[in-house]
Amino acid sequence: MDFKNEVVELISSQVDLPKDKINALIERPKNEKMGDYAFPAFALAKTMHKNPAEIAKNIAANLSSDDFASIKAVGPYVNFAINHQKLISLTLANVLSQKEHYGDQELGHGNVPIDMSSPNIAKPMSMGHLRSTVIGNSIAMTMKKVGYSPIKINYIGDYGTQFGKLIAAYKHWGNEEDVKKDSIMNLFHYYVKFHKEAEKDPKLDDEGRAWFKKLENEDPEAVKLWKWFRKVSLVDFKRIYKELGVTFDSYKGEAFFNDKMQPVIDELKKDGLLHESEGAQVVDMGPDKNPAIIVKSDGTSIYLTRDLAAAIYRKKKYHFVKMIYVVGNEQKQHFVELKNVLKKMGYDWADEIYHVPFGLITQNGKKLSTRRGNVVFLDQVLKDAVSLAKKQIQKKNPNLPNQDQVAHDVGVGAVIFHDLKNNRTDDFDFNLEEVVRFEGNTGPYVQYTNARAQSVLRKAKTMCKKPESQNVKLSDDWTFAVAKDLADFPRIIAKASEEFEPSVIAKYALDLAKKFNKYYANIKILTDDDQIGDRLALVQATSIVLTEALRLLGVNAPKEM
Ligand code: ARG
Repeated sequence: MDFKNEVVELISSQVDLPKDKINALIERPKNEKMGDYAFPAFALAKTMHKNPAEIAKNIAANLSSDDFASIKAVGPYVNFAINHQKLISLTLANVLSQKEHYGDQELGHGNVPIDMSSPNIAKPMSMGHLRSTVIGNSIAMTMKKVGYSPIKINYIGDYGTQFGKLIAAYKHWGNEEDVKKDSIMNLFHYYVKFHKEAEKDPKLDDEGRAWFKKLENEDPEAVKLWKWFRKVSLVDFKRIYKELGVTFDSYKGEAFFNDKMQPVIDELKKDGLLHESEGAQVVDMGPDKNPAIIVKSDGTSIYLTRDLAAAIYRKKKYHFVKMIYVVGNEQKQHFVELKNVLKKMGYDWADEIYHVPFGLITQNGKKLSTRRGNVVFLDQVLKDAVSLAKKQIQKKNPNLPNQDQVAHDVGVGAVIFHDLKNNRTDDFDFNLEEVVRFEGNTGPYVQYTNARAQSVLRKAKTMCKKPESQNVKLSDDWTFAVAKDLADFPRIIAKASEEFEPSVIAKYALDLAKKFNKYYANIKILTDDDQIGDRLALVQATSIVLTEALRLLGVNAPKEM
């Protein structure tokens, strides 16, 4: 039941305005004591030739409904105060009957590939890749909840001239044992060393180029090394994905599209879209804009060409209704070009491609960069978060069973939650102590609130009491505040999925947790009276929705912590 719709119906019975117009006019009074909805009567003053306060008074006098505790004129407004008991009882009955499916809806359907994570072989995964991974994962789960079929694609950076350099570096300083022991770290060191040495000795660059040529010509040694680097790097990446609880439906990376670029180049040529500019083959992007480069002057194709091939391949394979790229803001121009070139090729589905950018993670205000050696190793960040969580759990609840599992859920969950609670496009600072705190706007705070609700339910069980969601009679303000949030959950899910914005869910979870903690501080839940079952229904509904909100963010919700 939708109280706002009810307001629209009531108003429309009294005034001569279309319902969508009324719907758009309805406001939420700033002060909750003034009611839950307000209709501004001055919108009618001109046509009715009366003063707004008088109009409001007349409308209010003609209306009454069980769904509202009061309908009153206040100045030029008609204010509606929801019948608390009605909202509370309807909402609790809904949540308890639908359980984790509460908030499910049909906003669309069809395949939605999500290009996400996509780290580069032989380099440590960056904080940027972490952001792409957890944002993409949350978007995937949210899209699923509203009816779509997400396909999580890891477009691994596994090809390019840098692999010629890496092979050259390995031939000079590499050692099989080291690579087996700590693959990415050692491969990365060879690569960094290559760049340092190449500054002194430019011959090295020639060697790198020669190895890349060999790789292109399928020289067995080059191919073998490249395959091996790819394999061991993936093993390292998958370890991190396992920690984060993220899986992929496809690992088709850049190399997969090696033989799929020429047909795209041919098609562009046939369509008359390619022309030469300073030795390169380019597509015009319009006046005052730089052309998009398709083939470089040395004959090698580039990032954009590969992405064109990948987009066309995915459309054929998945017949997608939307496609999402979760990639940092610094690649904005690339995705503008990708969409433009596809459009010029006559692919109207380019309109359903969304670049979902995100901001930078900084440390003490400074940008992190792989090239400068100023890197954060993600494995280490997650390990540190888990051990910090463990310390706090041991202090708070030394006898907790499954301490390691809970510490893992809390530590890793804290890192994920911190990433998702900020508006996607904002830059934010990463400070582990802040992230893993049990109070404040953190993941552990939400998890702790849920565990508290679960603990109440366990205690109730020992008293042989259980939640009763039929005919709930509660109407107090603390309960109402929680129930109002619970009733809002489906709208929140819709908003998060439309905006590809997990922070909408994270902020909601924090707000619900705060409201519930206020409730918990003010109401004695386990007092054995007529309404204990009603109160337990509120506790259970809160736990269901907090758990589901956390799940949509990719965060586990331990029942005890
Ligand atoms: N591997 C790239 C990087 O680390 C990201 C790839 C994003 N996906 C894409 N289809 N271009 O910057």
